[in-house]
Amino acid sequence: MEQNPDKVAEVYDKVAKEYARNFFGEHEKKPQDREILHRFSQEVAGKKPIWDFGCGPGETTQYLSNLGIEISGLDISEKLIEQANLIHPGIPFRKGNLLDLEYGNESIAAIVSFYAIVHFSQEQVEQAFCEIFRVLQPGGLFLFTYHIGDGKIHLDEFLDKVVDIDFMFFNTDYISNCIKYTGFEIIEIIERDPYPEVEYQSRRAYVFAKKPTVNKVP
Ligand SMILES: C[S@@+](CC[C@H](N)C(=O)[O-])C[C@H]1O[C@@H](n2cnc3c(N)ncnc32)[C@H](O)[C@@H]1O
Repeated sequence: MEQNPDKVAEVYDKVAKEYARNFFGEHEKKPQDREILHRFSQEVAGKKPIWDFGCGPGETTQYLSNLGIEISGLDISEKLIEQANLIHPGIPFRKGNLLDLEYGNESIAAIVSFYAIVHFSQEQVEQAFCEIFRVLQPGGLFLFTYHIGDGKIHLDEFLDKVVDIDFMFFNTDYISNCIKYTGFEIIEIIERDPYPEVEYQSRRAYVFAKKPTVNKVP
């Protein structure tokens, strides 16, 4: 079932400080994340603008900025954006809804989005992919991640706060069909087991996809 984006924002507003503290420096514990972010940074070097959608407290944004990428972050939670601004003052962060982006068609060179689709229904995933496709420039790279699986888990408590939120799992056949149906070319989908004692114990997927360049008439 669809979750209202305002309700998702309320949950993250409630846990923003704890979330920022808990996930600070998280890529340091995840070698494959680092490898993948290095690859992304090499492929988009010198391009702009580049956005981190669903950036949370800005850990991925900061990691890419440290690799020399000029990047900004967007998230639906105002309080997470406050945390991101506090922790990473050199990076622009702003509030926004990835299901209804306030950017023009073909205005963004590349997009990264780590676990931002985890609260979306399948219809919302499709809507998010359409929005991202719309705003990406031809040839633009889209890197995103998700938890692999079926169904969802419901949380009544998250980081010691009372909440009411679902986390969705997606299988790779569905994501792969959906991303291709939107019009993207899949470059690669990488799956991995969870790191023990570092993160929630679900398998993870990283997808490198590209908006095709416009076909020229011969
Ligand atoms: C699981 S967290 C991931 C945060 C961060 N990317 C990370 O990897 O730590 C999901 C993030 O997506 C954001 N989010 C959820 N729905 C959104 C929407 N419709 N538009 C923008 N951000 C959204 C949440 O506020 C939250 O920060």
